Amino acid sequence: MDNYVIELRRIVKRFGSTAAVDSVSLDVKAGEFITLLGPSGCGKTTLLRMIAGLETPDEGAVFLNGADVTGLPAYKRDVSTVFQQYALFPHLDVKANVAFGLKRRRVARSEIEQRVSKAIDMVRLNGLDHRKPSELSGGQQQRVALARSLVLNPRSLLLDEPLAALDLKLRKQMQIELKALQRRLGISFIYVTHDQEEALTMSDRIAVMNAGKIEQIGTAEEIYERPLTEFTASFIGESNVLDGTLESSSGDTALVRINDTTARACLAESVRGVPVGSTIRLMIRPEKITLGSSNGISGTIEAQTYLGESTRWRIRLKGGQELSALGQNSGRSSRVGGIGDEVTISWEPECAVVLAPVAGGSGAERSIAEAYSS
Ligand SMILES: Nc1ncnc2c1ncn2[C@@H]1O[C@H](COP(=O)(O)OP(=O)(O)OP(=O)(O)O)[C@@H](O)[C@H]1O
Ligand SMILES: [Mg+2]
Repeated sequence: MDNYVIELRRIVKRFGSTAAVDSVSLDVKAGEFITLLGPSGCGKTTLLRMIAGLETPDEGAVFLNGADVTGLPAYKRDVSTVFQQYALFPHLDVKANVAFGLKRRRVARSEIEQRVSKAIDMVRLNGLDHRKPSELSGGQQQRVALARSLVLNPRSLLLDEPLAALDLKLRKQMQIELKALQRRLGISFIYVTHDQEEALTMSDRIAVMNAGKIEQIGTAEEIYERPLTEFTASFIGESNVLDGTLESSSGDTALVRINDTTARACLAESVRGVPVGSTIRLMIRPEKITLGSSNGISGTIEAQTYLGESTRWRIRLKGGQELSALGQNSGRSSRVGGIGDEVTISWEPECAVVLAPVAGGSGAERSIAEAYSS
C-alpha cells in the first residue's frame, strides 16, 4: 500500500449556503509536488487552510502521515504553510523571523541556532541574517518566508501562490529554485497557483479545481492531452470544442459525425457508455489540426496570421462552427491557401477527445448526464 503524507476524504467547507470546498478527496504521496490550479474563488486557499488546521471541515476527514488530524489544531500538525503575503514580522530581522516557530515550540537554543543557519543556507540568504524585511527585495522576502517554514522540517509544505508578488523574471527563477529544493529535500509540496504555465513546469500532478471541486487530477501531459471536461480543456492551453454526434464507439475509440463528415476521436474511460446518436462535444488543440489533407472536414479560411515560428488560422466549418489551427513554419511548404479559400481539416484520432457531458448543460447534454447516473 502506498504511504500517503496527506489524505483528504470528501472534505466539505461551507460559508453560509455555498460550499467553498465541495467534497474533495485527494491523496498526496511522500515527495510529490501537487499543484492546485483554478480560477479565483474556486476554493484553493480554503482547501489548504483545512489541511493546515486553520479551518475545520464541515464534513469529511484529513489524514496526515496516516493519522486522522481532523480535530487537531494547526500547531500540532506536521505541515507548514507559506502564504502569498509572506507575513514576516517587520520588527524582526531575517534570523529572528526564521527562528520564530522553533522558539514557540521551545526548541533548545543551540539547536535553534544550528537549524536556522541551515535553513538560511538552503534558501541562499547567507550574509543577510540581520536585515529587516523592509531592507530586502521581494524575492528575498519570499525566501525568508520559505526558510521560516522549512526550518520546522515538515514532511509536507503548503504554498499559497508564493510567487504571485514577484515580477516575471524573478518568478521564473524562483520556480526553478523551489522545484530543485523540493526534489533535494524530498518533502511533499501542495502548491497553489492560477498560472497554468507555472503548474505545467513544476508539478508531478496537477489538480484542476472548479467551484469547490477537483475537476480532474493528473500529470501535466494527461491534463493537457486528455482533458475530461470542457472546463479543464479551456483552463489549460487553448482548445477548440466542436459539436458532433456519436456514431459508434468501441473501447477507447469513437467515430464522431461533424456536419457531413465522420472523424475518429478517443474516448476516456469516464465517457464510455454515452449512447450512440448522442450529441457530444469534441476537444481538439489548435496545433493538432492538419490543414489541407485529402480527406477531412471542409471549411473556409477566415483569417490567417503569420507569427514567425508558426502561422495561425481561423477556420469556419460548413455548419458554421469556428475553430483555430496552428502550424509550425518548419520550412517545408506550409502554404495551405489564403483567406476565403476552402480547406479540409483532419487530425490523428488520439488527438481529439470526447468530453464528459456537463450536468445542467444543454438539453442533449442533460439527457446524457442522466443516462450516466442511472
Ligand atoms: N472566511 C470566509 N467567509 C466567507 N466566505 C469565504 C471565506 N473564505 C472564503 N470564502 C469564500 O469561499 C470561496 C473560496 O475562497 P478561496 O479563498 O478558497 O478561493 P481561492 O481559490 O483561494 O481564490 P483566489 O485565487 O482568489 O485566492 C469564495 O467564494 C470566497 O468568497
Ligand atoms: Mg486564494
